[in-house]
Amino acid sequence: MKISENISLGPLNSFGVDGRARRLVEWESAAELARVDFSEPWMALGGGNNVLFTTDYDGTLVKSVARGIAVTGETAETVRVRAEAGVDWDDFVAWCVERGFWGVENLSAIPGTVGAAPIQNIGAYGAEVGDVVVAVECFCVETGGVLTLAREHCGFGYRSSVFKGVLRGRVVVTAVEFGLSKEPRPNLKYAVLAERVAKISSPPAPPAGETTTPQESGLLVQIRGAVMEIRSGKLPDVRVLGNAGSFFKNPAVSAEMGRLLAERYPAMPVYPTGEGGSKLSAGWLIEAAGWRGRSVGRVGIHRDQALVVVNLGGATGEEIVEFARRVQDDVRAKFGVDLEPEVNVLPQAR
Ligand code: EPU
Repeated sequence: MKISENISLGPLNSFGVDGRARRLVEWESAAELARVDFSEPWMALGGGNNVLFTTDYDGTLVKSVARGIAVTGETAETVRVRAEAGVDWDDFVAWCVERGFWGVENLSAIPGTVGAAPIQNIGAYGAEVGDVVVAVECFCVETGGVLTLAREHCGFGYRSSVFKGVLRGRVVVTAVEFGLSKEPRPNLKYAVLAERVAKISSPPAPPAGETTTPQESGLLVQIRGAVMEIRSGKLPDVRVLGNAGSFFKNPAVSAEMGRLLAERYPAMPVYPTGEGGSKLSAGWLIEAAGWRGRSVGRVGIHRDQALVVVNLGGATGEEIVEFARRVQDDVRAKFGVDLEPEVNVLPQAR
């Protein structure tokens, strides 16, 4: 376990916001966590890809540097894989794809760590990590013990879980167990992905009289490649422009509100949620409000994806929050819809 005092926050958050934290603890096991003083303010940090510090952090940041990945069980068709919290998420996806294990390929190239993935139930291109989680292992800061939560107890929802709810500030995720498939399970329900995969995988026509069989392990690699291409075309590289991916969640509204909006704005995407409500697209709303590519001072909205707030260089966390507020106010004034940040803004309002 490595303990550093008075450290710079800059390298620890993808927004590239400056500041300092009182202490950083880099841990490898629950036994090490048991030696940390959790009576003072503390926070678990993964890759710092979904957090915005608006002040110095007067507490302890606990960050996993445990990087083990292992197969923990298998049948002819399925495999269980356990990955420790500090594994880079995309290294984990690459590891699975290399071995022909299906289930996380649509989540390729999402920045962050395995330990952070279940907390906000990362999702993209028709998949969510909660779909393939078997169990989440945690260290409980209240009892000093370890606990394993089966998927059924993780309360996974759209960008949410029990770890953001009743267990917030009470447990540290130490490892995640995944249930993956050795049989092909292409998830191509997201139309843009299906089109991109078709482009990559359409083989040249076979010579007359011959037939070809699809190369299934090839398809897994192709889906990962297609996801990476789509993402890199829309989402800014944090090494170039500080950002935290989608800044806002796609808002959920009542079915009635969804119907009224669809009537008034025929181009607005409005999807049924399956729970009797409607889901809107925050990116569309922000773009329609005229914010795509616009900036105020050192903060802006990315030109290729309106959900992404970018640090144009040297912005403070306060400036970013202030900018996000303007966007929220404008969208509320124009469409009557509230945008809720997806990013964890610190310190949290009480
Ligand atoms: N749209 C716009 N303008 C924009 C962005 C989107 O009009 O600038 C419209 C699109 O035309 C489309 C709809 O909004 O009709 C949905 O857009 P898209 O499929 O690009 O996805 P998204 O809703 O903007 C969500 C996730 C992303 C994820 C993509 C792909 C959230 C908050 N964001 O974005 O996740 O990669 O779907 O599945 O749910 C992240 O969480 O950090 C993230 C990048």
